[in-house]
Amino acid sequence: MDYMQKVSEMLAEKFDEIPLANVVTFGCAQNENDSEKIRGLLYKLGYSMTDSLEKSDIVIYNTCAIRENAELKIFGNIGKLKALKAANPYMIVAVCGCMVMQPHIVDKIKKSYPFVDIVFGVNALELLPQLIYSCYSENKKQILSPQERTQIVENTPMLRSAKPKASISIMFGCDNFCSYCIVPYVRGRERSRKPENILREFRQLVAEGYKDITLLGQNVNSYGKNLEEKVDFADLLALLCTVPGDYVIHFMSSHPKDINKKVIDTIRDNPKISRQIHLPVQSGNDRILKLMNRRYTIRQYLDIIDYAKQQIPGVTFSSDIIVGFPGETFEEYLDTEELVKKVRFTQLFTYIYSKRNGTKAAEMEDNISHEEKAKWLNRLIKIQQDIVFEHLDSYTGKTVKALVEEKHGDMYTARLENTFLAKFASDTDFSGEFVNLKITGKRGTALTAELIK
Ligand code: 5AD
Ligand code: SF4
Repeated sequence: MDYMQKVSEMLAEKFDEIPLANVVTFGCAQNENDSEKIRGLLYKLGYSMTDSLEKSDIVIYNTCAIRENAELKIFGNIGKLKALKAANPYMIVAVCGCMVMQPHIVDKIKKSYPFVDIVFGVNALELLPQLIYSCYSENKKQILSPQERTQIVENTPMLRSAKPKASISIMFGCDNFCSYCIVPYVRGRERSRKPENILREFRQLVAEGYKDITLLGQNVNSYGKNLEEKVDFADLLALLCTVPGDYVIHFMSSHPKDINKKVIDTIRDNPKISRQIHLPVQSGNDRILKLMNRRYTIRQYLDIIDYAKQQIPGVTFSSDIIVGFPGETFEEYLDTEELVKKVRFTQLFTYIYSKRNGTKAAEMEDNISHEEKAKWLNRLIKIQQDIVFEHLDSYTGKTVKALVEEKHGDMYTARLENTFLAKFASDTDFSGEFVNLKITGKRGTALTAELIK
């Protein structure tokens, strides 16, 4: 708070007009949520937000480390700021997030991108006012080296993106150490927020009119493990559903080893929880799952899916899949195809394995070429496309509830619970409201629909 005041005064002195800030997010929903906090802090300091890099007085890149191509893209973007910074000497360039939790990346920024003024890692957001203050007052770069910070800071101001969608971080970090994944190294140990703090934030969002609320964590099913109070993810879901209002709750990501019948039963008993479950499987082959340190078998994965299908009418699943894990053979990859055909996900996020230094998988032998892996990926994408088309066709004639997102001319788009988009015409603007739609067919990857008056 001390620095907030000081920076506000400093900015008022330095700039004739309201200074502009641009926070650019790379990566996942957790990073988006962090960016909303960064924007909240900047707003309190006196900045207005802009999408323009040229007009920005501070640019903050909130970075992602999950795959190598994410990092390469981000370095490309940072490089482009050099000329802009030369044109606006007051401009601050800051880099934060997962990528700069890796010492070799911070070294590279220091060496190859000397125009970067501020670097701060994950869980250090609240240091931003202090870093801006020191950067201007000492006229000196503020490059924090990666440091695990385990505290949970409540009540950071947030500048959220537009209604009706919002997200709430219910926990931070990850203890699973899947062998391919950098997240436990950059986001640190798993810790959960207290249920009463989550409930307060949730209540406020509902009161403000948010209608599509996503609970975020790397593995939401292990929520509560570090809390003194005996509370698990199913308890948290049930608690939030006691808040009156018209909304839908989503959550991600779930881990198949931790999702259990209690969570499924809680979804069944609470219509406010989305009937689409994101359950990343990663591979359809047990040997690869073991090498990935996922700690479930395909039999166990299918059992929980079967249980959910029995208990929750109309439940659908989405998933993440990695192809080309070190040592994976074509035959083992084919097991993934078989699984995808069996479960018939409504949405699939597919990735080619990317080597992340410091992880267990980075030490495993990997002798399949990138070209070969790309072929497998394309096969999988094609199979999934056909499954999505079949899902879309199965909606024709059905009546569904959907949340209206955007207006394009006289057409609106609305999102079904399972994330399919439906397009419909309406004379009345129902943006941000739930509507009932009758599905008439499909166009491309979206559904066409009529509004039910
Ligand atoms: N290479 C490719 N994909 C990865 N993911 C995580 N780490 C890697 C990696 N090293 C994918 C997983 C995860 C999703 C968020 O990103 O599928 O579920
Ligand atoms: Fe990475 Fe596995 Fe943790 Fe997900 S659960 S963040 S894939 S280590």
